[in-house]
Amino acid sequence: MDVFGTMQDAFGQGVSAVKGAVSGVAVENLPFMRGFIRLCSDGWQEGWHERNGGNLSYRMTHAEVDSCKSFFYDVPSSWVKMSVQAKNLAGAYFAVTGAGRYMRNVQLDPSFNVGIVEINAAGDSWRLVWGLKDGGMPTSEFASHFLIHSVRLASADPTHRILYHAHPDNVIALSKIIPLDARIITRALWKAHTECIMVFPKGIGVVPCMVPGSMELARATSELMKTYDAVIWAQHGLFASGPDFDSTFGLMQTVEKAAKIHGLAIAMNGGSSEFANTITDDDLRAIARSLNLKVNEAFLS
Ligand code: 13P
Ligand code: ZN
Repeated sequence: MDVFGTMQDAFGQGVSAVKGAVSGVAVENLPFMRGFIRLCSDGWQEGWHERNGGNLSYRMTHAEVDSCKSFFYDVPSSWVKMSVQAKNLAGAYFAVTGAGRYMRNVQLDPSFNVGIVEINAAGDSWRLVWGLKDGGMPTSEFASHFLIHSVRLASADPTHRILYHAHPDNVIALSKIIPLDARIITRALWKAHTECIMVFPKGIGVVPCMVPGSMELARATSELMKTYDAVIWAQHGLFASGPDFDSTFGLMQTVEKAAKIHGLAIAMNGGSSEFANTITDDDLRAIARSLNLKVNEAFLS
């Protein structure tokens, strides 16, 4: 595999698969896939997906798997072993964007840019059952997605089926100027505008600059996603989870917008973050009280 994920023989085995006869509503037109495709297009429109930047995965329901089965390859790819294992994802199916494939192209050709992979009974291997035509394979960040799906499924939010990674400009810029501390970053973002604490009351996690696609990044992020719904990858982007496409995209957009407002305010203020007016901790508590939010108290003063 080259650095941008063109499938060669990265796992020492071919993942070519053979298409069979089909019936029913095409996978591309099923509601979950329409939501998946729309999110990819929306993220591209926002400017968060230069080249092949960013990736998306969705843990399918049993009913969705059933409605896709007639479109699955008669002969799926061979099993591809991962360096991670999650027993609670045994037998799961994921829709996932391809390594090196472009978000801007997903809408034009979903079955080239997106695939459906099945996880084996041991929870340590995947095989391609639909899409990712012409030798594609899941995103190079699939280890992160996989471990985080496992964490999410085992958590208080097992409804979080969607994991989304993007490269939003202002979040990346923020990670250059602020201490890489979850409390400091969360407080800056909560105070950027009043909606933020409503959208991410648990706060935002952060990992330092790490090699994209690495196991180190996957493990560090999955650990933080036990606590947070979104984690900043310093100098790289943001990883977000949610129960549906709207709220996951909305979380990404809200964090990015808050980072932008924070940066704008610093620029308007001559480079200082000592603002004349801001949202106080009492304001944050009042918002939390009025909406009965379960706020991360450790991040309030
Ligand atoms: P993929 O093309 O493998 O999804 O990689 C894009 C990316 O953003 C890596 O962090
Ligand atoms: Zn990335």
